[in-house]
This record gives sequence, structure tokens and C-alpha cells, in this order.
Amino acid sequence: QNKLTIGLFGFGVVGEGLYKVLQQTPSLNANLKKVCIKHADKERNAPAALFTTDKNDILNDAEINVVVEVIDDADAAFEIITTAFKNGKAVVSANKKTIAEHLPEFLKIQQETGLPFLYESAACASIPVIRNLEEYYDNDLLHSIKAIVNGSTNYILTKIFEENLEFNVALKQAQDLGFAESNPKLDVEGFDAANKWTFLLTHAYGIVEATENILFNGIQNIQLSDAKVAKEKGYEVKLVAQAKKLSNGKVAALVLPQFVSKENPLALVKNEYNGVVIESGFADEQFFYGKGAGSFPTASAVLSDISALRYDYRYEYKKLYHHQPFGLSNDYYLSV
Ligand code: HSE
Repeated sequence: QNKLTIGLFGFGVVGEGLYKVLQQTPSLNANLKKVCIKHADKERNAPAALFTTDKNDILNDAEINVVVEVIDDADAAFEIITTAFKNGKAVVSANKKTIAEHLPEFLKIQQETGLPFLYESAACASIPVIRNLEEYYDNDLLHSIKAIVNGSTNYILTKIFEENLEFNVALKQAQDLGFAESNPKLDVEGFDAANKWTFLLTHAYGIVEATENILFNGIQNIQLSDAKVAKEKGYEVKLVAQAKKLSNGKVAALVLPQFVSKENPLALVKNEYNGVVIESGFADEQFFYGKGAGSFPTASAVLSDISALRYDYRYEYKKLYHHQPFGLSNDYYLSV
């Protein structure tokens, strides 16, 4: 078993959650040596000696073999991740925006260095969706995926449609609970869901595409009247990410608000929960469900990545390298 010495970047909602989770899981035998933060003067519930504002205290520390990066700034995260790789460290990241924007570079670095790069927490938080897509399904057997991958928008939709809250009140709650991005536009306008969808498509089908090539929209134009119509007809309104293998071998992918019938398991997904419905050969339909945002649920997935490093787990991107990658298609469909 590998001995893990961790340097953590970020002590916000996820970072502090991870700190507490690590304290409660001593059997993991992981040593959190340093935490790099932006503002030294904030009050924090951890020993002051743990913190530094100098990223090199982690990146140049030869004893630290795992960099865990859970900061908010996607560009700074890219610098940290690439420097960590250069310095021979394994990386665990929760940074969906960075991963979506730089996956081709990260794939290249992983091929060249063989260093593990795990990011289970970057999509659907507590649901082990990436490892599932990596491990469970042969490429040809994965017919379709329909998923709710953004907790904040699902929380807002639940609150406005079931409790008649105003949009902005529901959004404020999602922010106060630590679900929303610091720029909530990323949640509300669908960017966060589309970012997650790009790399989930990589693990599902071997597709590497920029987020802007996926058709997506958020919930910014949803009205209470939409909820009324939905309810009358027995539907829920959900922000759904979809991918489906077409008969021409391409994959149709989109992220859009949709009417979801009550028979669909996604209709059961409320508040900050996420859900993933997969249709595949032999297994038929499967439904994965769990908290998709928040401190501990996200930290639980970071913890699972740290734990997986002990047995040298890494994504193999089998679908990308061993199969002919499918292309994306502009065709799309709307029934859920
Ligand atoms: N803002 C994100 C969400 C956080 O609401 O899903 C988890 O990725």
C-alpha cells in the first residue's frame, strides 16, 4: 500500500469538509501535511501551522506525493495541477471547469508521466459516476445516459415548484448552503452541468469535446407557469443532461431543462441531489442517486479518490484509447 502524504489547495466548502472527513478516517493512514490558502487572515477551525499561502510549500515538498486541489479559480487550478505533475505528484481535483477546459492536455500529461489524476468529486459529488462509466460498461453496450448533474439548479427548481419560493430566494439558499458556484451564473445558465457532461462523455464514450460544442441551456428562463403546465400534465421540470448512441454510430448529447415524466426515476431527484439513469445492454436500466453538491458529499468523493490512490488506481480511458471514439452529433431528441 502506498503511503500518502497530502498537500491540499483550498479550504472552502469542500476543503474544510475534506479536512474533517480525513480526521474521522484515521484508518486511511493519509497524512495531511499542508494546506495552501489564499487569505491568511481568515479564522479557520484547524491548527495555524497547517496553513501556508505559498504554493511552493506544497509543490516543492518532496515528501508530499499527493496534491488535492479543491480551489475555486479554474486557471490557478490548472497551474497547480500541471506543476504538481511536473514535480511527480499524483493529483486529485474537484475542479470541473478546469478538467472540462483542459482535458486534452491532462490526457497527454497522464500518458507521458503515468501519474494518476482522479476527479470523481467533479461530477455528481457523492455518486461514483466516473468510476462506474470507466469500469462497468463496454463501449458498445452503453445505449444512453440521462442525468441531473447540477445540485444548485435542481435545488432551485425544487424550491420554486414545490414551495413557491422566488427564484432569487431559492438561489440565495443554494449559495448559503454551499451548493452554488461563487459565480452562480455557472450553475443557473447551465455551464457547470455542460462542463461536467463533457468529461462524463469522455468516460462514457471516449469523446473529447469542448463544452461549447455541446448544446446546453440552463434554467434562467424557467417560469412558474412552466411548473403549472408540467404539474397539470404529470411532469417535473428538470435540468437534464442526455447522451444517446445513434444508429449512425455518433452520440447525441445535450443539457437542457425538460419535462420529465413521473415514471422516470429522475423525477424523484429533489433538492441538491443528483441522479443518473443508464441504459445498457444486459443490465437494462440502472439508476444512481445521491447528493450532488455540498461539503461532505463532495468530500466523500475526494476521499474515495485518495483511498483509490493507495492501490494505484487510475483511469484507463479505455474507451478513448482502445475503441474508435464516437463523434458528437448535432441531432438531438427531447423525450425523457
Ligand atoms: N455548483 C455545483 C452544483 C457544485 O450545484 O452542482 C457541485 O459540483
